[in-house]
Amino acid sequence: MSAANVALITGITGQDGSYLSELLLENGYAVHGVVRRTSNLLRSRIEHLRRDEKIYGQRLFLHYGDLSDGTTLRRIFRESQPTAIYHLAGQSHVGLSFEIPESTCEEAGMATLRLLEVARDQEQPVKFYHASSSEIFGSVAEAPQTETTPMMPTSPYGCAKAFATQLARVYRQSYGLFVCNGILYNHESPRRGENFVTRKIARAAARIARGLDLDLTLGNLESRRDWGYAPDYVRAMWMMLQHKQPDDYIVATGEHHSVRDFVEAAFAAVNLPWEKFVKHDSSFDRPAEPSRLVGCADKIRKTLGWKPTRTFEQLVREMVEAELKAVEKLC
Ligand code: NAP
Ligand code: GDD
Repeated sequence: MSAANVALITGITGQDGSYLSELLLENGYAVHGVVRRTSNLLRSRIEHLRRDEKIYGQRLFLHYGDLSDGTTLRRIFRESQPTAIYHLAGQSHVGLSFEIPESTCEEAGMATLRLLEVARDQEQPVKFYHASSSEIFGSVAEAPQTETTPMMPTSPYGCAKAFATQLARVYRQSYGLFVCNGILYNHESPRRGENFVTRKIARAAARIARGLDLDLTLGNLESRRDWGYAPDYVRAMWMMLQHKQPDDYIVATGEHHSVRDFVEAAFAAVNLPWEKFVKHDSSFDRPAEPSRLVGCADKIRKTLGWKPTRTFEQLVREMVEAELKAVEKLC
């Protein structure tokens, strides 16, 4: 990989941004990340990279910026001169998007347009990855979904991602920009945010097993999702931008499981009967839920040779084991 490979990542402090940074650094890239001002300077998912003197300030650079701040984003482009941008930032919690719809749509929708405009103005061509989502399909017209399944989102978050996905297509078709939509299904890891259901379950199973918590309160146990492993999905992002043609790809395992399945597997990993500990709280139920979200990843498998490396059972076990280790550090 030549030194001319420069990646700009929005959302570098998130689950995907952290794994993607590691992958790109391994592949010889210089990586620039956009971070927003926070009251706490600890950016836990990339702290190990920031502390590495051979990396931070040498091949990894952080820039303060916010998705709402177009002039700063433009300046970051000028300073970093990226050959690829991975646009991952934004409010990513679907349930919360019903409570904060305006900022969610501003970040997932309008900010993507803002960045597409900046990319369009660059003198040197820049490849653009947009973090689309299976939430664009919502009350699905068919299952499994493919790249041509109609968008029928059921949440403000899904609507904003649908808007941005279509705009990315328009910029590809109208201006010849190298833009790819990765239509990613749920992907999880020990770095998943604590208020997403898989991490919440894995964490609770470990903490209950070690006597730190008494129970776990959840919403709908019957919801089903197509859950994959986050490092596999960031590899798919990178592969999309290496292909000769820009295109859209579904990234999914093709299997779906219920929240109840995840709970059963997580509590089985710590040898506890889940029924004794799991409670329902309707405040975690959502006004609307997508149905039958499961992806057909045939296109990326055949065109780019991508495939997932973890089964559902392996994913659950890895997440619970990481939580057990975290608990041991506390004790
Ligand atoms: P995440 O862990 O929630 O990370 C979101 C990132 O966006 C964080 O770095 C966050 O910064 C940053 N951010 C949020 N608002 C911002 C703003 N106004 N200005 C600048 N940065 C901002 O999300 P993820 O799981 O890594 O997902 C990455 C992207 O893929 C998201 O766009 C998500 O919607 C999409 N996606 C995710 C999945 C999935 O299953 N994970 C599936 C499909 C699509 P802070 O650290 O400061 O909060
Ligand atoms: N978060 C959460 N908390 N979800 C719960 C809970 C709970 O206590 N109890 C049940 N659930 C159900 C939700 O109702 C939903 O049906 C399912 O668990 C998964 O919820 P999340 O883990 O919050 O993920 P999501 O599917 O809504 O959204 C994630 O995946 C999308 C891709 O399909 C996010 O990563 C999005 O950013 C991403 O686009």
